[in-house]
Amino acid sequence: MHRILLVEDDDQFRRAMVMSLKDLKYEVIEAANGKVAREICGTQKFDVVISDVQMPFLDGVELLDWIKKNNPMPFVLMTAFTNILETKTAYELGAEDFLAKPFRQIELKMILDKILRPPSKNAPELGEAESLFCRVSIDEFVSRPKIDFDVYIRLSPNKFIRIGHAGDEIPRDRIENYKQKGQKHLHIRREDFTKLVDFNLELSRVVVKHEQVNVEKKINFMKYTGEVILEKAFVAGVDEESYGEAKEMLVSTVNVMTEIPEHLELLNVLNEHSDWIYAHSVGTAMFSLMIARRMGHTTAGTYFKLGMAGLFHEIGYKEIPREILEKPRPLLSQSERALIESHVTRSYEILSCLRTVPSDVMEIVYQHHEDVLGQGYPRRLEKHRLHPLAKIFQVADQFADVAIKGPHHAGMSGKKAAAYITDLYEDKFDKDSLKALHSVFTA
Ligand SMILES: [Fe+2]
Ligand SMILES: [Fe+2]
Repeated sequence: MHRILLVEDDDQFRRAMVMSLKDLKYEVIEAANGKVAREICGTQKFDVVISDVQMPFLDGVELLDWIKKNNPMPFVLMTAFTNILETKTAYELGAEDFLAKPFRQIELKMILDKILRPPSKNAPELGEAESLFCRVSIDEFVSRPKIDFDVYIRLSPNKFIRIGHAGDEIPRDRIENYKQKGQKHLHIRREDFTKLVDFNLELSRVVVKHEQVNVEKKINFMKYTGEVILEKAFVAGVDEESYGEAKEMLVSTVNVMTEIPEHLELLNVLNEHSDWIYAHSVGTAMFSLMIARRMGHTTAGTYFKLGMAGLFHEIGYKEIPREILEKPRPLLSQSERALIESHVTRSYEILSCLRTVPSDVMEIVYQHHEDVLGQGYPRRLEKHRLHPLAKIFQVADQFADVAIKGPHHAGMSGKKAAAYITDLYEDKFDKDSLKALHSVFTA
């Protein structure tokens, strides 16, 4: 019979835990605080120590530190969402695992089984866990009183522990407190990203008749998009943190979008028709995310819409011959110019036929060549009719056009390109978006 030392100062909770552990056929020794536990551990060995974090006299992290130095034994820390930062320290000190309070008996059993049984040959490969999670800005939780998915903290590249359960309430002041202590991100499972951004993937799948996405095709496309983000759509002088944040969000967005086979097909076709237009699309998505973030937009739902609009806004170009797309602008005839401008309506129509693209995304796409002077195309929309996110998007789109390498130009550094489009189109752009664009670049 395995022996467990249970360290917990809450009498009621400790009693419940003892019953649970005995029920699982463990022998349990109790300690009501860290100091008592340390005395016991001075003379005895246990198969596992399970300890609370916050306790009088000696807390769980201090106890862990002492045990690992003086009488090493497997250690499991019981932690609440409030103790998120202590958890990180505990991991660094060598805690084997963590139980997020409140937990169920099955979770307790799984953790103990994992520690007490020899390692399974089927243990996840290094790096595998990472692909199961996506990073979310902690700001996302400021405006979200209740979470409808589990929330995790990343302790190491391959170690994620759950710190909040679906249905939990996370008080705003607690989030503010983490932020002040420097915690910038939390993690959620990839499959919950659709809940976070409020995109009804299941409904979209019904619309497209349950067709399954070709997994190999999807993985290849995701890999390729990752390369485009880092190489082709990269602009020199960009603030690294902003770029990293936008990249993370865009990868999650593409991952969800391409769960729908028609989306994957369209993006593949666009890329095969013209890879520089695909790079421009990725760049527009990236820069609209960065501008939005600088302007104080914090929700993943907003980033998702901008990201999706970025990838899809030029989809209409797939119907326009490549020779015309690559012809220098001054050499275009009037009819060729009209054909090129028709890409906006074509994009809108292609996306309408899908019936899986959110209406905000449709509107951003439709308005990406409009402007605040009411002189844009195809509808010459007046400023007050512009979608707030479209104003951000228009700036990102023009910027990407100038800054990212195209068939006739080599691209420009961020500061230069931002100054260039400001000189040319200052009156046509939303001033706040333009200001935010400038702030994204350090050189
Ligand atoms: Fe366009
Ligand atoms: Fe564009």
